[in-house]
Amino acid sequence: MAEGKNLVGVDIGSSSIKVCQLKETRKGLALVKLGFEPLPPQTIIDGHVMNTSAVVEALQKVFRDNGLKQKDVALGVSGQSVIIRKISVPLMTAEELAEQIQWEAEQHIPFDIKDVQIDYEVLRRRPEAGQMDLLLVAAKRDEINDYAELAREAKLKPICVDIDAFALQNVFEVTYGLPPDHTVALLNVGASLTSLNIVAKGVSQFTRDIANGGNSFTEEIQKQLGVAREQAEAYKMGGTGTEPVPQQVQNVLMQVADGLAGEIQRSLDFFLATSGEQEISRIFLAGGGAALPSLATAIERRARVPVERFNPMSKVACEAGVNQQFATEHGEQLGVALGLALRKDKEKRA
Ligand SMILES: Nc1ncnc2c1ncn2[C@@H]1O[C@H](COP(=O)(O)OP(=O)(O)OP(=O)(O)O)[C@@H](O)[C@H]1O
Ligand SMILES: [Mg+2]
Repeated sequence: MAEGKNLVGVDIGSSSIKVCQLKETRKGLALVKLGFEPLPPQTIIDGHVMNTSAVVEALQKVFRDNGLKQKDVALGVSGQSVIIRKISVPLMTAEELAEQIQWEAEQHIPFDIKDVQIDYEVLRRRPEAGQMDLLLVAAKRDEINDYAELAREAKLKPICVDIDAFALQNVFEVTYGLPPDHTVALLNVGASLTSLNIVAKGVSQFTRDIANGGNSFTEEIQKQLGVAREQAEAYKMGGTGTEPVPQQVQNVLMQVADGLAGEIQRSLDFFLATSGEQEISRIFLAGGGAALPSLATAIERRARVPVERFNPMSKVACEAGVNQQFATEHGEQLGVALGLALRKDKEKRA
């Protein structure tokens, strides 16, 4: 692992902020601090922050309430303003590539190259074809700057910005290891967004964000049962225990799950049709939506691939002072924050 001190991972999700601080001990990874702060609805829409002060206040509160003293953080970004492509370029040296990358990227990115931050990784060199394959990542500077600016307003010091899907992949790699000869799909089902990352031979091959997630389950319960948002949210999670959950809820959950599973399946089909890969051997579900049994069932039925819940906390011990029960119950929601918390202050960055 890289040298240096672990950064504090800060995942600003549309429904809540998750903050994790990790430490590497001789026995493995330990969670030193954990913070979770819900955000009011409509604070973040489609990855855009609508209510800056709500986010800044929540960030300050979560650091204060959980005794987070370290201000050097790693932030996550997701959504429509990030583009990830596998591209092929003529074979060249690392120095040549560093010079050429802007020009190469321009051919593949629908945004003005001046507005984006480019990052890349060489996936494979193919001397016989005179080509090499790259994973190209382009994120709009505006979006990155907005999130970094928010963090600075909350008196934090953003050291690096990572893509949510890759942060999750990092913690997955630490937890299960990346299978060298299987293709797996990692799904992060958030409140408003589901991100898909297909990993083969230890590297990401395909990513896609689907603008659908836990919110649509809640909204459909609200609509079909004519109940308020809080009530619908409670029904979705199996009720509060004080009154029975109407039977209709299960049908609504199955309906919405099937719709989302259909969208996921279209992306999997697209990947299989264009990548030359034969099959996906397993699908892992993380994010708050992973807790919906109807979703795992629906995906399994459509994809005919085993679906497993991925608990990113399973290899992480909790230090004294961390709310272990919360970390266990909400483990799936902590994947991105934990992945970000694996980043170090001294590692090499583009
Ligand atoms: N036990 C549960 N059962 C069903 N759904 C749950 C459960 N716990 C959380 N969720 C749902 O998970 C979603 C929140 O997940 P998560 O924290 O991963 O999203 P987020 O990061 O805030 O959102 P996004 O990444 O989409 O911006 C909400 O829709 C919430 O209702
Ligand atoms: Mg999220």
